[in-house]
This record gives sequence, C-alpha cells and structure tokens, in this order.
Amino acid sequence: MATRAISWLDERTGLLTVWRVVLDRKVPRVNWWYTLGSASLFLALTQTVTGILLSMYYVPTPEEAYNSIQYIMNDVAFGWLIRGIHHWGATMMVLTVFLHMLRVFYYGAYKYPREVTWLTGVVLLLATVGLGFTGYLLPWNQRAYWATAVGTSIVGTVPLLGDFLLRVLRAGADLSFLTLARFFGAHIWVLPAILFAMMGVHLYLVIRNGISYVPRRDE
Ligand code: HEM
Repeated sequence: MATRAISWLDERTGLLTVWRVVLDRKVPRVNWWYTLGSASLFLALTQTVTGILLSMYYVPTPEEAYNSIQYIMNDVAFGWLIRGIHHWGATMMVLTVFLHMLRVFYYGAYKYPREVTWLTGVVLLLATVGLGFTGYLLPWNQRAYWATAVGTSIVGTVPLLGDFLLRVLRAGADLSFLTLARFFGAHIWVLPAILFAMMGVHLYLVIRNGISYVPRRDE
C-alpha cells in the first residue's frame, strides 16, 4: 500500500529522484570535522524557529524592547527556554560556521572545483556574523546599547567611507529608535533572506560537486 502510494506520487512529482540526489548520494570516507556544515545548517533552522516564536512577543521600540524581553523570560510559557536556545544557538552557530570554514581551509577543500562553494561560504559567514551583531542590540539593555555604540563606531573609522557607513548602520549620527528598527529589520528580514538564499546555492553546489575526501599526507 505504502509502496503504491509512493510510486503514485513519484510518477507525478519525481520525488524519488530528488530523494536519491539529495539524501542517497555516495560520500567518501570522512571524519567528524565534516559534520560541522550540517551542524551549522541545523542551528540555522533552530534559530529560525525560535526567532519566529520570539518575534511574537518582542516589541522593537526603545520603550518596550527591554520590557518585552523581561515578559518573555518571566511570563511567557517556556519563553526562557526559547530565548535561551536562541541565545546559545547564536553563539554555537558562529562557532560551528567558523570551525567548518577552518576545516575546509585546512583540508584544501576550497580548491578546484569548489571555489564558488567557498565564495558562497564567505557570504554565509558574513550573514551569520551580521545576524549576531544585529541581534545583540535587540534586548536594548546597557550592554547591548554600548556594545553596538562601540561596534558601529569601529565601522566609522574606515577610511573615506567611515562616516557614511556609520550613518547607514545607525540610521543617523547616533544610536536611536531608528537604529533599533533598522537592526530589527536586518535581523529578521534582510540577513535571514540572504542566509537562506546562499544556503540554497551552497548546498546545491555541495551536492553538484560532491564532498571532497580527506587529503592524504603525500598530496
Ligand atoms: C551557514 C553557514 C554554512 C552552512 C549551513 C554550510 C553547510 C555546508 C555543508 C552541509 C557542507 C557539506 C560538507 C560538510 O558539512 O563539511 C558544506 C561544504 C562546504 N562548505 Fe559550507 N556551510 C556554511 C558556511 C561555509 C563557510 C563560511 C565556508 C567558507 C568560507 C564554506 C565552504 C564550504 C566548502 C568549500 C564546502 C565543500 C567542502 C568539501 O567538499 O569538502 N561553508 N557546507
């Protein structure tokens, strides 16, 4: 019965081909370091789910941001857990993405034919760090405020473009309600859109080119 249902669906959608190409591919004998890409993917999905849940209670205004986080922590059922997962997931994701990049670099997996996979990876790294940076301001507490004040003023020291970049980031000369709105918009729309689009291309290329094998000592 199940087999017939699957072949009925496959005839109309090509589902089994997708399954074979995506999940049933041959991979070389590798080691635990090769799991870091999938760990990053898992964390990106976890962050998305917990982030969507948080956005149902978080209010991105200077008056309410801090209070809404307090409300999530103390009054919303399992709010502390969802926020905790989102908080630690962010730290873990920066770590796994970075270690994944180091693995790729150390094994020379960025070389032909995987140069474009590497380039999409660079965008993924920037998007991940950007998500961490923009998310840090959202609790709107003293630490968040001053960390962002310092972080954005570092960008302001870039030669020639510094002042312009600082204004783009802060939505003005100083940190204000507009900065919070801008960081919130970047955190929940712009950067996740870039992340997911790039993850799609990245994973397509990983499947298209296959996974590299562990280099031998004489190579
Ligand atoms: C959100 C971030 C990322 C996700 C979800 C991700 C996901 C993956 C996955 C699942 C693989 C399969 C093999 C493995 O897991 O090691 C992979 C391979 C690869 N990734 Fe990433 N990646 C990310 C970031 C990066 C970064 C920052 C770089 C480098 C700048 C990079 C470069 C590569 C390359 C070159 C491969 C092919 C490696 C090989 O064939 O051995 N990735 N990625």
